[in-house]
Amino acid sequence: MIEKSGREPVVTIDGPAGAGKSTVARLLAARLGYRLLDTGGMYRAVAWSVAQAGIDADDAAAIARHLKSVTVTVDDDRFLVDGRDVTSEIRSPEIGALTSRITALAPVREAITPLQRRLASAGGVVLEGRDTGTVVCPDAEVKFFLDASIETRARRRQMELAAAGRTVPLDAVRAEIMVRDAQDRTRTLAPLKKADDAIEVDTSERSTDDVVATMLEAVERIRCCTRS
Ligand code: DC
Repeated sequence: MIEKSGREPVVTIDGPAGAGKSTVARLLAARLGYRLLDTGGMYRAVAWSVAQAGIDADDAAAIARHLKSVTVTVDDDRFLVDGRDVTSEIRSPEIGALTSRITALAPVREAITPLQRRLASAGGVVLEGRDTGTVVCPDAEVKFFLDASIETRARRRQMELAAAGRTVPLDAVRAEIMVRDAQDRTRTLAPLKKADDAIEVDTSERSTDDVVATMLEAVERIRCCTRS
């Protein structure tokens, strides 16, 4: 049963790298007039600051100490570390790989998850990530789990990198995605998995518009029940 809370729903979108989450999350948030929260971007900003500080990715104690002295801020689609805009820098494959490693550590998740919950608490938000429907907002009104074939995901990631000026062979992109998938799915803390009540969407053979239309329909169905 859905209670009439009067606030706009929280929408979560989880799934592996290259499933198309970022694109559809941005479009869905724009169509709904909701705020977008790219939770991976927050973790990437943390990873960037860990790299800048020269801390070993496996040194959980040093990372925990570092997190106490660093401030990660989200300003719309910009990510700031201690006031410095790192939005472009955090998109590199190196930072992606480092992010996947440090997000397996308890101090990292314990520092960032409450921040994400706070940012989502007012509703009217689309969260995108790996654990947004399972751990960050398990009570979210609408949850999606996006997936696609490994070939589709690798091709998409390659195009994203090309758009950012990086030419990476498809084999290397595919290999990197497979390593990250394994790390994200098998870690003990907040592993990537579909929430039981998430709507599964395979984006392999579908256009972005088609996927967004399906998702919008699902949100509108819930939205009309939650509004008082
Ligand atoms: O979606 P992305 O490529 O920006 O995510 C980078 C890494 O961050 C990914 O390997 C897994 C991790 N991540 C996470 O552990 N939890 C989230 N909610 C979002 C991302």
